[in-house]
Amino acid sequence: MDVSSAIHARRAVPSFDSSVEISLEELVALMNEANLAPSAMNLQPWEFLVCHTIEDKKRLQAVSYQQAKVAEASAVVVVLGNLQHHHHALRIADENVKTGVLPEDRRDAWVAGAVGAYEGLSQKQRDEVLRGGSLWAMTFMYKALECGWDTAPMGGFEADNLVKEFGVPDTHVPVIMVAIGKRNPDVEIRPRSYRIPVSDLIHLGNF
Ligand SMILES: Cc1cc2nc3c(=O)[nH]c(=O)nc-3n(C[C@H](O)[C@H](O)[C@H](O)COP(=O)(O)O)c2cc1C
Repeated sequence: MDVSSAIHARRAVPSFDSSVEISLEELVALMNEANLAPSAMNLQPWEFLVCHTIEDKKRLQAVSYQQAKVAEASAVVVVLGNLQHHHHALRIADENVKTGVLPEDRRDAWVAGAVGAYEGLSQKQRDEVLRGGSLWAMTFMYKALECGWDTAPMGGFEADNLVKEFGVPDTHVPVIMVAIGKRNPDVEIRPRSYRIPVSDLIHLGNF
């Protein structure tokens, strides 16, 4: 599937066939591909809460305004933003030194730069996890589509209740949920909602 076909074929499906299961192995394989998504300084600010059993999907549905799709989907990946993602820097630097991606004599400066860019800067941390987590989710949706799966991005969750229900620590924030499964053939997908032409949105040079 080429990129343009994927862009045109992807839809946020309105309903999933609840009889379809996805194996954890396949789900993790798709997630592994999405892990090539870009992130600032490649600090990878994402982690995942995966709801795969019907019990877990129902717990998630209860904190997602009872949206039916959450329980119907084969699985739901809740993309979490790790506000402390700059602490990945040392591990990433060490691995990059091993493979020659980063010269050893630049390691300490790179780590100090990455940590210094975010340490104590809560708004910047939050902005970055929202950017990174969203790019991860988009990459995941396209990979899923290529492999024959439908998806639905969802921001309709009660963040405070979600973190309580699933024990998410305050170092992490829910960014977006992506439900994955096979679309329910009995529920028609409506034609695409209107897109504002890009020409109305571009500010060339200055706003
Ligand atoms: C950040 C975000 C949050 C969304 N939240 C929900 C949601 O909670 N429930 C839902 O049914 N759809 C949700 N959607 C799906 C959008 O309604 C859908 O993407 C949009 O209408 C465009 O349709 P399309 O993706 O099929 O082109 C969300 C999409 C995004 C990107």
